[in-house]
Amino acid sequence: MSADLVVLGLGYVGLPLARQAMRSGLSVLGFDVDAAVANALNAGRSHVDDLSDDDVADMIRSGFRATTDEAEISVAATAVICVPTPLSAEGGPDLTAVRAAAHTIARNLRPGMLVVLESTTYPGTTDEVVRPILERSGLVAGDGFFLAFSPERIDPGNERFGTHNTPKVVGGDTPESTRRAAAFYGRFIDTVVRAKGTREAETAKLLENTYRHINIALVNEMARFCHELDIDLWDVIHAAATKPFGFQAFYPGPGVGGHCIPIDPNYLSHNVRAKLGYPFRFVELAQEINATMPAYVASRAQNILNNAGLAMKGAFILLLGVTYKPNIADQRESPATPLARRLTALGAQVTYHDPHVNRWTASGADIPRSTDLEGAVVAADLVILVQNHREYDADRLAALAKRFFDTRGVTTAATTHRL
Ligand SMILES: NC(=O)c1ccc[n+]([C@@H]2O[C@H](COP(=O)([O-])OP(=O)(O)OC[C@H]3O[C@@H](n4cnc5c(N)ncnc54)[C@H](O)[C@@H]3O)[C@@H](O)[C@H]2O)c1
Repeated sequence: MSADLVVLGLGYVGLPLARQAMRSGLSVLGFDVDAAVANALNAGRSHVDDLSDDDVADMIRSGFRATTDEAEISVAATAVICVPTPLSAEGGPDLTAVRAAAHTIARNLRPGMLVVLESTTYPGTTDEVVRPILERSGLVAGDGFFLAFSPERIDPGNERFGTHNTPKVVGGDTPESTRRAAAFYGRFIDTVVRAKGTREAETAKLLENTYRHINIALVNEMARFCHELDIDLWDVIHAAATKPFGFQAFYPGPGVGGHCIPIDPNYLSHNVRAKLGYPFRFVELAQEINATMPAYVASRAQNILNNAGLAMKGAFILLLGVTYKPNIADQRESPATPLARRLTALGAQVTYHDPHVNRWTASGADIPRSTDLEGAVVAADLVILVQNHREYDADRLAALAKRFFDTRGVTTAATTHRL
C-alpha cells in the first residue's frame, strides 16, 4: 500500500488540507495521537467548523482513513505536520507536539520522503528543531529526505478563500527541497509562492499575523479616545477606507481571539528577545492594548448602567455571541471569556446567547445560557453584542433591548451605545 500524503494532526488545519488534496486525486492518510479524533473521523464525524459530517463521510468514501498507528506513515511520499503550537508558560511556542510529530516521522522516514512543517512557530524551528530530529533516522536533509516549511493561512469560516485558492508559501532547507515542496502543493493549490528558505517562510507567517495584530491595536486605541472626543470611529474608518490605495481597514472590537492573532506575534517577540536580547516593541504595545479591551468594554458597560442610575452589582447582563469570530463555534482565546470574568467580578449576573455554543465556562464556572433570544434581550438590564453572528439582526435586537452596547459597530440607531 502507498499514499501520496500523510497529514499528522487532524484539526482545523490538517483536515481541510487533507480534503483539498483528496479532491485533486491524491491518496491521503491521516495520523493523530488522539484515538477519539481518529475514531470519530473514521465514523464520518467532523469536529472542525469548516468540514461537515457529510464532507468527512465523502472523504472516507474516497479512501481517506485516520490512524493512530505510526508505522503506517512510512507508506507516504510526503508527510505534513499540522500539530498545535500553543504558548508556553515563558511566552514562546510550546513545541512539544512538533517535536513529538518529528520523532514519529523520524522513526518511519523512508529515503526520498518530503516532510513539511505547517504549524505556526518561531523562525528557525524547521532547521534547528525538526531537521536534527529527522536526521536521527540516519538520513540527511536535502539528500536522503527533503524538508520544508509552509505556513498555514486558513481562515475558518471564510467562504471566499479556502485551501485551494489561498496562495501557499513554501520555503525548503535546500533549493531542491523548495522545488519538491512547491511541486507537491502545486498538485492541489492554485498558486504556490517560493520563499528563499525555511526561515523566510516561517517569518512571513508571523509578519502577516503581527501586521493584523498591530493594526487592530491601532484602531482599538483610537476607539478609546474617539469615544471621549465624541467622534464616531466607525464612520471615520468607513471614510478612510474609500482611499483606493495605501489603506486597509481594520475595526475595533472587544479584544482579539482565536488560535493565531493573540498568540503568533509572541513567537516572534519571544524569539527576538531570546536570541538578540531586545524587545520587539510594536508587538508588546499591541499586546498590551488588545489585552485590555475586555476590561475597557466592562468599564464602558458600567458607565452605561451608571448613567441610567443602575449599579453593575446585581445588574442582568446578556452577552450575544461568545466565539472569537462570527459564524463559527471556536471559542479559543475569545475575548468574551475575560469580559464575562470581569463583569462577574464586578457583581453582574451574566448570561449568554450563542447559536453555536451549547455550554460556556468563564472563571471555572458555567455561564447560564439563554435559548430564547428575544425574551432574554427584553429582560436584560444591558445587552452587549460581543460577536455579530449572522443569526442576529442587531438593529432589531437593539430596538427590543432596554440598553444595547454594540462592540462591533453594526447598529445604526442613535440610541445604541457603540464601542
Ligand atoms: N486554526 C487555525 O485557524 C490556524 C490557522 C493557521 C495556522 N494554524 C496553526 O496550525 C497548527 C495546528 O492548529 P490547529 O488549529 O489545526 O490545531 P487543532 O488543535 O485543531 O488540531 C491539532 C491536532 O493535532 C493532534 N496532535 C497533537 N499532537 C500530535 C502528534 N504528536 N502527532 C499527531 N497529531 C498530534 C491533536 O490531537 C489534534 O487533533 C498550529 O501551529 C496553529 O498555530 C492554525
